[in-house]
Amino acid sequence: GKHGKPGKGGLAFTPVAPNTQDALVVADGYESSVVVRWGDPVTEDAPAFDFDNQTAEAQARQFGYNCDYVTFFPLGPNRGLLWVNHEYTNEALMFRGYTDGGAAPVEQIKIALAAHGGSVVEIRKNGSSGRWELVTKGRRRYNRRITAQTRFTISGPAAGGDLLKTAADPSGRTVYGMLNNCSGGTTPWGTVLTCEENWNQYFVGANGVPEEQKPYLTRYGLSTTSAIPSGSRRFDRVEERFDLAKHPHEVNRFGWVVEIDPFDPTSTPVKRTALGRFAHEAATTTLAKDGRLVVYMGDDGRFEYLYKFVSTKRYIHGFDRHNRSLLDEGTLYVAKFTGDSPAAEIDGSGKLPSDGAFDGSGTWIPLVTGSKSHVPGMTAEEVLVHTRLAADKVGATKMDRPEDVERSPVTGAVYVVLTNNSNRAAANVDEANPRIGNKHGHIIEIVEAGDDAGRTTFAWSIPLVCGDPKDPGTYFAGFDKTQVSPISCPDNITFDAEGNLWISTDGNALAANDGLFAMPLRGSDRGHVRQFLTVPFGAETCGPLISPDQRSVFVAVQHPGEINGATPDNPSSRWPDGTQPRPSVVVSWHKQGKKIGS
Ligand code: FEO
Ligand code: CA
Ligand code: CA
Ligand code: CA
Repeated sequence: GKHGKPGKGGLAFTPVAPNTQDALVVADGYESSVVVRWGDPVTEDAPAFDFDNQTAEAQARQFGYNCDYVTFFPLGPNRGLLWVNHEYTNEALMFRGYTDGGAAPVEQIKIALAAHGGSVVEIRKNGSSGRWELVTKGRRRYNRRITAQTRFTISGPAAGGDLLKTAADPSGRTVYGMLNNCSGGTTPWGTVLTCEENWNQYFVGANGVPEEQKPYLTRYGLSTTSAIPSGSRRFDRVEERFDLAKHPHEVNRFGWVVEIDPFDPTSTPVKRTALGRFAHEAATTTLAKDGRLVVYMGDDGRFEYLYKFVSTKRYIHGFDRHNRSLLDEGTLYVAKFTGDSPAAEIDGSGKLPSDGAFDGSGTWIPLVTGSKSHVPGMTAEEVLVHTRLAADKVGATKMDRPEDVERSPVTGAVYVVLTNNSNRAAANVDEANPRIGNKHGHIIEIVEAGDDAGRTTFAWSIPLVCGDPKDPGTYFAGFDKTQVSPISCPDNITFDAEGNLWISTDGNALAANDGLFAMPLRGSDRGHVRQFLTVPFGAETCGPLISPDQRSVFVAVQHPGEINGATPDNPSSRWPDGTQPRPSVVVSWHKQGKKIGS
């Protein structure tokens, strides 16, 4: 076999076998450690974590729950800032005896509000290895918690519009909190973009909104037939604004891409309306050949769309005040994929069509430019606030849950992760979403016209159709399938300096834990998928992030021990401390200091 021998991408590690261990398992020759876990002190005045004596006041100063997106801003060779999203809370694992939000003590609801959002923490390198650790002593001037109660401003064309006004905020320009921040991105000027994903779950009273608003709520996954959806955290018991029967527009103030300056802990984060409102997974920036800023974005829902934003003005290196306005004016596009094989050859099994590839061409359809709508019957404000309904009207392609999108720093190709779609049926398979009941997901490679991210046409193909390689409905870019690791439900991706794709998974449907995989994209090793690590039982793998020096790889271990019926008195995971499961960011490095993947 080829295992152990470096291929074209320079990868040489022996893959980790699928397993169900309650442990972080890394490839032979590598070590790992926890960098920061739920409850660890973030601000200097934070108390130590005490599982059985949690308070909202402490949680607002400690690392939040369910770490997702991870990014890094160097402060020097051995110090840096880590930004981490806190996507959601799982009260059944956080509190003993929890039943539901209606019965919960109000203090627990306040803890949940404080456990959402994000963290900035300073980290430092420990010695010469690739190990990084939390700075816990001395002045931590950048450390900061953002929660569901932090003040945000709203900017861009929809800011100040009627759809964003509430009784508490007649200006439509100020909102408290961000919710369900899943993945994200960074800007060339050194800020974080963090994305509100499944924010629909935090509201009650959707049955009580004005009739004309109901179709907009339904399209975004809110039930308008019940007052209190089952499983609600009942944030309305702490803050009335979460009751839409009383404050119907509050919901429109969530679902945005948020920009945060990690270097200024006093700065007010900004929700950028020009990038549209949906279940934002991630926001990846790049530059068009003429210098305009481009942002790729997925809407993670079954049959939702892929979007990109192209700024009107150009990026000017070093001119921060100008650059920060780029995200407020531009064109929002949605993708349409057209296959080049006869529809009859896409049989839903995953079998390749006779031309040997799921591939074709595509177009970016404009929805809105600044305050000018391109969608008949909708104003620009409506397109930005009700973006899914705008995309429905223009014939965009309904995808299998678009998650992360990233652009290769080596080739410029853009990779779109489609995690899975149990509802994809024979009647609606297409060449870009070719499998019925797509259980394991796939990845699309986009090559923009002229390799220019600012253009509006592209070519595309599918290099990876995930699953058990023994399943004939899988495809690993033509690589020998007896030599690859099984992979299921890709979610977040990143690249190493060689341009290899690193893929983290969420929801492995092959009866094994989730993990992190590497896949070369060039040369004879293209498609040679190998599992680099597995996360503990019940967890998904988020991040991932490879340090600029290529010596460390960070992943977020999200929701360890999250299985139905697990409680603090009956935990299904005791990772990482042997007590209660605690979502954590971990780092892995080669014992001899070699590059990640060696
Ligand atoms: Fe929060 Fe789409 O994963
Ligand atoms: Ca084809
Ligand atoms: Ca995700
Ligand atoms: Ca996911």
